[in-house]
Amino acid sequence: MIIDGKKIAAEIRAEAAAAAAELSRAGAPPGLAVVLVGDNPASLSYVAAKERACAACGIRSFPVRLPADATQERLLAEVARLNADPAVDGILVQLPLPRGLDEQAIIRAIDPAKDVDGFHPVSLGRLVIGLDTFVPCTPAGIVELLLRSGVDPAGKHAVVVGRSNIVGKPVAALLARKARGGNATVTLCHTATPDLAAFTRTADILVVAAGRPGTVGAGMVKPGAVVIDVGVNRVPDPARASGYRLVGDVDFDAVASVASLVTPVPGGVGPMTIAMLMSNTVKAARLRRRP
Ligand code: GUN
Repeated sequence: MIIDGKKIAAEIRAEAAAAAAELSRAGAPPGLAVVLVGDNPASLSYVAAKERACAACGIRSFPVRLPADATQERLLAEVARLNADPAVDGILVQLPLPRGLDEQAIIRAIDPAKDVDGFHPVSLGRLVIGLDTFVPCTPAGIVELLLRSGVDPAGKHAVVVGRSNIVGKPVAALLARKARGGNATVTLCHTATPDLAAFTRTADILVVAAGRPGTVGAGMVKPGAVVIDVGVNRVPDPARASGYRLVGDVDFDAVASVASLVTPVPGGVGPMTIAMLMSNTVKAARLRRRP
């Protein structure tokens, strides 16, 4: 069976919209600043989708566009301005940043109270030690997909492929956490893992975030496993007007016949990332308005 990320994301966006409407009625609509540096085509499309989602949810969006040759100081000044702006509840700096900019220094400059991406070391540290925090959107979306598909990770063996700061490491921490959506036994595999298949075949829940098409084929999946494909890869396709199509990291058709549940690309994890961003923005707004 296919996990319908579009449908589950729509449910979460509707919940965020209801919360945003309540905040607006109280006189202060939630606001998200969306910072894009340069014109990376994938980033442009993600940022546009995030701003459309804000509009659909009743969240104000504050677009910030800087040229690809913007300096570190310029970007830091922009972040400082957004930190100080009371109408801005959340700050998102789209990654990756153009070469020459220090991504980690920019992330550290964001006020953790506005860190709706959950990438600040304070947010990630709180996640690891089990405190309430902003959970990074893609990992949070993966856990929501599982729970809303009737899959409780508790007691299961979850294998994560990929150790990025944005997905692999935080999703491993989230699945291992002593909390709802956690309590799994977690194995984190990466490029230095010998015999990846030996690990993936033992997974009840397999999260693939390697960034490489064809990372997981049918022979690497235990029958009945739940497979979450986080990959978003553009492959050339002359039959499309855009000249490309999106594929995940998993051989979808082959794996779908072995797994009990699998996410498609597109329409699986992708829409969840944006839905969780809406949800985190509403959460930031509520926390900031607490007396
Ligand atoms: N680049 C890839 N994924 C993300 C994300 O979730 N947030 C931001 N800001 N940049 C990204």
